[in-house]
Amino acid sequence: MRVLLAQPRGFCAGVVRAIEIVERSLQKYGAPVYVRHEIVHNKAVVDGLRAKGAVFVDELDAVPAGAVTVFSAHGVARLVEADATARELHVLNATCPLVTKVHIQGRKYAAAGRVVVLIGHAGHAEVEGTMGQIDGRVVLVQNVQEAEQLDLPGNTPIAYVTQTTLSVDDTRDVIAVLQRRFPDIVGPDVRDICYATQNRQRAVRALCKQVDVLLIVGATNSSNSNRLREIGTESGIPSHLLADGSELNPAWVRDAGVVGITAGASAPEAMVEHVIAALRKLGPVEVSSMDGLEEHIEFRLPSELAGAPEAAS
Ligand code: F3S
Repeated sequence: MRVLLAQPRGFCAGVVRAIEIVERSLQKYGAPVYVRHEIVHNKAVVDGLRAKGAVFVDELDAVPAGAVTVFSAHGVARLVEADATARELHVLNATCPLVTKVHIQGRKYAAAGRVVVLIGHAGHAEVEGTMGQIDGRVVLVQNVQEAEQLDLPGNTPIAYVTQTTLSVDDTRDVIAVLQRRFPDIVGPDVRDICYATQNRQRAVRALCKQVDVLLIVGATNSSNSNRLREIGTESGIPSHLLADGSELNPAWVRDAGVVGITAGASAPEAMVEHVIAALRKLGPVEVSSMDGLEEHIEFRLPSELAGAPEAAS
């Protein structure tokens, strides 16, 4: 069996930064460090940080007053920020800078008197944070059908912003419907969907031309991993999402000559290796990586952590 790895795959700069913020906070301030929401949507990452002293909470009322608290990469609503201030929490904000950029765009449109349409998935942490960052009316639209049914007069001044981890193609289709129905609509270029999302989706599309089956290493609650699986399926390739090698179903790869592997932006490379190790238990495996983009993007840490010692691996 041949294994062909997508390039790029796995961790993005926002995830690397978020994990490093928790690790450096633990080193600088000691355990426990409270983290609101899973820092990134990956159980292995969360378990690893928990073992080092991070305490994950769903809401801030579970955090003792004054404690060191990290907001996850997905961002938080303004009410959460206000709650943290009221409780005098020592906050380190791991919101990905590309998510913050969406918040700023949304606020700008709302301040200009536009209804903001957020294209995204209900219930996702990033969507809840973004909706709660924009003063004024924000409406969530999840797909083309909802865009067609959006109940606003055609002359309503509206703008759109997008969840960062959507499928670029799906988003383009939703925007096209909104533009047809609301000719005055404004919004950022669809290419503003984060670089990591675009690069991983483009790589999977290319990978699908060369493989018989696609394995996506990532969590079931990881939005960008689910989008990668959808792209595989749309390309006509059987595509399966798995957290690690223990979830590999031998039937998926039984008749496959070439197995493609990619990983969501929150999936560590160690989980990719774990999947390859599971494939090796089924027979000889030859691994290579497709030609693809090398990413060199890094996001700066909050200044109070920038000088902290290197995070332990
Ligand atoms: Fe940020 Fe994009 Fe990663 S929004 S957290 S760089 S997937």
